Amino acid sequence: MRNRIIKVLFFFLLLCALPLPGNAEFSFVVTGDSRSKTDPTGINPIVKEIFRQISMENVDFTFYLGDLVSGKRDPDEHLKQLLCFKKMVSEFIPSNKFYPIIGNHEVYSMKHLDLFRSVFRNPQNGPVKYAGFTYFLAHKNCLFITLTTDFLGETGYVSDEQMGWLKEVLEKYRSVDHIFVMAHQPAYTAGYHVGFCLDAYPERRDALWKLLREYNVDAYFCAHEHCFLLRNFDGIYHIHTATAGSEFYPVSDGLFFHYALVKIDGEKVNLEIKDEKGVLRRQFFFFRRKEIKNVTQEEVMKYSNERILDEIEKGPFEVAWRAVVAAGKRKIHAASKPILNWTTKIIKSKSKKYFYGALGIRSLRLLNYKKALPQIKEWSQSSHSFIANEANYTLDSMEK
Ligand SMILES: [Fe+2]
Repeated sequence: MRNRIIKVLFFFLLLCALPLPGNAEFSFVVTGDSRSKTDPTGINPIVKEIFRQISMENVDFTFYLGDLVSGKRDPDEHLKQLLCFKKMVSEFIPSNKFYPIIGNHEVYSMKHLDLFRSVFRNPQNGPVKYAGFTYFLAHKNCLFITLTTDFLGETGYVSDEQMGWLKEVLEKYRSVDHIFVMAHQPAYTAGYHVGFCLDAYPERRDALWKLLREYNVDAYFCAHEHCFLLRNFDGIYHIHTATAGSEFYPVSDGLFFHYALVKIDGEKVNLEIKDEKGVLRRQFFFFRRKEIKNVTQEEVMKYSNERILDEIEKGPFEVAWRAVVAAGKRKIHAASKPILNWTTKIIKSKSKKYFYGALGIRSLRLLNYKKALPQIKEWSQSSHSFIANEANYTLDSMEK
């Protein structure tokens, strides 16, 4: 009997220790770009101060978004720079908590790529060709994916091979709480490297963004243009966190050496942008954009038009939101006004059903219900990111 009680108690304690989905609390850092044109090491030594600050943050790991060094065409000289960088980082961050990727300054030849692989031992779970550059990390019910935008001969886009792999990984982990994607090149230029980011191949960039949106990626972190800049494209945060030492590019107000400290607090993502002295310079938070996935096409098709209207207007909440989805997907225009009323009621109720409020806005967009524009404009100012993101996107789409 006593043994049984001990076993039950042990099991209970184990359960308490396991993070519950949606309740993860941990932090990580993203930063990048420390190359220097003037320092003989090819690295701005200020990056050591960045690493010193990171070492005091108690984070689970740090992602480094490329252009670690200025680089040299001579492989021996290039290796010296990489080793110098590794020495700087190793003083403050254990190698198993440091995940670098390559930028254009690490890529002069295949030999240079091999040098990077020999110095930094990254996960080897990506496509073989991009081993050590393109990989993923599943951690505390969150997913982290790195992509290579600067492979030799493949500058400015994410190759088809990586896209196929990316889709598989996203599909496998689609139910996690948060998804973050990291790459060297911005998907959307900050204005300095126009035509030398993923905007060099807009169709490929758009296909990438569509995929990220399909799987509700939280944010895309990038470097290459030396600034801090946070924007949102189509519901996904696009965050330049790119200068841990490289010279500033005159593109935005985010011109200071920095790192991004990302704190996961359940559904909430807190971003703290700190400089090399650890001073907080910018602060943001957002919630992962979610989509209703549990309404299948078959379910949508089984609704009759009359039933949809009836259920939006009179059905209990659990029924009504499905009808709202169905009406949007099936383009039942007669449901437009009832959907506007339902969505207004949900958002006004402050019942924390923001997720469903955003869903209603999406249906109004699918129905292109222009009479809702004044209300959608108001929602675009909402303090809740689900509502504001969806409303802003809907305004852009409907006003075109
Ligand atoms: Fe770069």
